[in-house]
Amino acid sequence: MHKKGFIFDLDGVIVDTAKYHFLAWKKLANSIGVDFSEVQNEQLKGVSRVRSLEKILAWGNKTLSEDEFMKLMGLKNDDYLSYINKMDASEILPDVSKTLDFLIEKKQAIALGSASKNATPILQKVNLFHKFQAIVDGNDVSKAKPDPEVFLIGAKLLDLKPEDCIVFEDSVAGVQAANVANMISIGIGEKDVLREADYIFKDFTEMSPAFLEGLISGTVKKNNKENNLSINN
Ligand code: G6P
Ligand code: MG
Repeated sequence: MHKKGFIFDLDGVIVDTAKYHFLAWKKLANSIGVDFSEVQNEQLKGVSRVRSLEKILAWGNKTLSEDEFMKLMGLKNDDYLSYINKMDASEILPDVSKTLDFLIEKKQAIALGSASKNATPILQKVNLFHKFQAIVDGNDVSKAKPDPEVFLIGAKLLDLKPEDCIVFEDSVAGVQAANVANMISIGIGEKDVLREADYIFKDFTEMSPAFLEGLISGTVKKNNKENNLSINN
C-alpha cells in the first residue's frame, strides 16, 4: 500500500481568510494614518503577523516603540478574530472537503502547514479540525516560509520522509518552502504567480481523482510536468 503525506496550507487553500486579514489590517493601518490597499494585502499572503505589521509600517514610513508595536498586533488580531468567530463550513473553498475525504478514504496521512497562529480555531469553526492527523502552525515554527521548517515538522509528525510528502500552497513563499523541503509542490492559484510549483491548479475543482491517485501511487512525480499534462488532459 502506498502512503503519502498531504500537507495543506490554510489561508487561501482551505479557506479564504485574506479578505478578513485585509479588513483588519486596513482598519489598523488607517488608524495610524497609513493607507492600505488590496494590492498591498496580496503581498502579505503567507507572511507572518509580525512581518506583516513591519511591512505596513515601512510602506507608511512609520516607526513604533516595541510596546506600541505589540499593542497594535493585539488590536489587529482581536479585530481579525471577530470575523473568524462568525465563520462556518460554508466558507470552505470549493472541493476542499471532497479532496480531504478522498485522501482519507485512501488512507493517506494529512497535515496542516500554516504560518497562522489562529489555525486551530479556524479549522474548528469550519468543522475540519478532526480530518487532520497533525497541525503545524505559527505557534510551532521559528522560521517563516520560504524556510521549509513548517513542512519538515509536518512530515516528521506524520512519520514520513519529506520526499513522500505533497504540499498544497497558494503563496510563492510556501511553494518555495515545499521545494526546498524536497516535497511535491502544488500551487493553488494563478499560473503566472505560482510558476515555481511542480503543478498548478486554479482550485481543487480542477484536480482530478486520477491526479490524486497518481500522487499516491508515485506516478505523479516532482517536476514531472509532462506527466501532469497527460493526467489532466
Ligand atoms: C497566513 C496568511 C497571512 C497571515 C499569516 C499569520 O500565512 O496568509 O496573511 O499574516 O498566516 O496569520 P495569523 O492568523 O497568525 O495572524
Ligand atoms: Mg496561504
